[in-house]
Amino acid sequence: MIITIDGPAGAGKSTIARLLAERLGFRFLDTGAMYRAVALAGMRGGVDWERPEQLAELARTVDLVVSDEGVCLDGEDVSEAIRSSQVTAVTRFAADNLLVREHLVRLQRAMAAAGDVVTEGRDQGTVAFPDAQCKIFLTAGAEERARRRLGDLHAQGEMKAMKEVLADINRRDRQDRTRPVGALRPAADAVEISTDGLSLDEVVARVLEVVQQKRSGRKH
Ligand code: DC
Repeated sequence: MIITIDGPAGAGKSTIARLLAERLGFRFLDTGAMYRAVALAGMRGGVDWERPEQLAELARTVDLVVSDEGVCLDGEDVSEAIRSSQVTAVTRFAADNLLVREHLVRLQRAMAAAGDVVTEGRDQGTVAFPDAQCKIFLTAGAEERARRRLGDLHAQGEMKAMKEVLADINRRDRQDRTRPVGALRPAADAVEISTDGLSLDEVVARVLEVVQQKRSGRKH
């Protein structure tokens, strides 16, 4: 079974998807980490961001392994490095690159072919796995998402002001929603869940309920 979880930055997709995968004994695929890793490779390789084919070529040649344990780029664990603000700032060059997207969607499908998976991102239910049996669209208000992001950044030792983080979230929402391919939007058959005011346990319980309904073929 393929479970897709899409939604905007900071909605809690990774945390929820990881917990869900654990509960169900499924693998977990963080596709945002793949775009981040390609951007990191581009940054390190000094690619010209104005020339999309350079980054696409690099994406095809690097060894990118994304698993429950983290992200490996050419054998190096880059799970932390891909979360820095510098990498976040250039990840749009990977996400907006049609050739990179084609390549990463191919990798995502190959990984999912190995068995049950919970996959999270922006286009998992719409582009990568349009036939997935269970699709969730996770949302939360921009302010709530900015508060969560601020907490994460502080935990990593990056001090930023709330105003700045909120502006970042709004900018990323705009980028995610207007991308020509793989834009953030709920699939027609996705179940939307707003996480505003819900605890982690409550969100997981709600998602599990949807999964059970889909498994038994009932409507939500
Ligand atoms: O979920 P995240 O913040 O780690 O994702 C990093 C970036 O990658 C984000 O700006 C949107 C993009 N992305 C995408 O375009 N398609 C996906 N399936 C996942 C992420």
